[in-house]
Amino acid sequence: MADNIGFGVDVGGSGIKGGVVDLDTGELVGDRIKIFTPKPATPDAVAETVAEIVRIAGWEGPVGVTLPSVVRDQTALLAANIDKSWVDTDCRELFAEHLPDNPAHVLNDADAAGLAEVRFGNEEARRGSVILLTFGTGIGSALLHDGLLYPNSELGHLYIGDTEAEHMASAAVKEREELSYKKWTKRVSKVLRTYEALFWPNLFVVGGGISRKHEKWVPLLECRTPVVPAKLHNNAGIAGAALAAATGLLP
Ligand code: BGC
Repeated sequence: MADNIGFGVDVGGSGIKGGVVDLDTGELVGDRIKIFTPKPATPDAVAETVAEIVRIAGWEGPVGVTLPSVVRDQTALLAANIDKSWVDTDCRELFAEHLPDNPAHVLNDADAAGLAEVRFGNEEARRGSVILLTFGTGIGSALLHDGLLYPNSELGHLYIGDTEAEHMASAAVKEREELSYKKWTKRVSKVLRTYEALFWPNLFVVGGGISRKHEKWVPLLECRTPVVPAKLHNNAGIAGAALAAATGLLP
């Protein structure tokens, strides 16, 4: 077994997934453990599920946990796509109660994916200004410069005209409104052009489940910044969380 290992848990809307991560490669060592997200996904119910995953894995040591929320000083501050009771939750206290033997470190899900992508995925994302976007239920964002993270950027909530970017162009909107790739990509292009006019990145990296089918839409994008698909898929959040917890790279 690799000796430089960590543990990450990715909290999503439908599943909570965790596993042991090889911190040299970002790959999972052994099984990925998945439990359906409890309903309602209150802080106590989610923390208990995270604890269950850690117990099943028999992991001892620090645990990184992603949340689809702003996490500042280990306090969750936003709940756009999660249970509203997360707002102002002190995650240190919460996890100390449910997971007393494992120090837990919580960070935003897209930030975790960005850290993992820079470290283990796209080499070209290691230098310069990079914006990683995850397209799923919402739009998550990670702002990176030379591999360092500016946390909690929340670009999915930027208004474009009178609509938030994620209400216009998330993968969930594509599905809900039954948009073709062509129609949806027009909206994504508009979002990217707005971001590039503000941040002037060297590169966009696009992730989330829909990036698996990148050949259907990334070539259709119209913006001046190069766009590449994320190389890490399912396990980006888990790997980034494990990395953050092991190295203290925390918001
Ligand atoms: C949340 C972000 C999250 C993103 C992707 C947004 O609605 O506000 O914190 O990163 O969804 O899950």
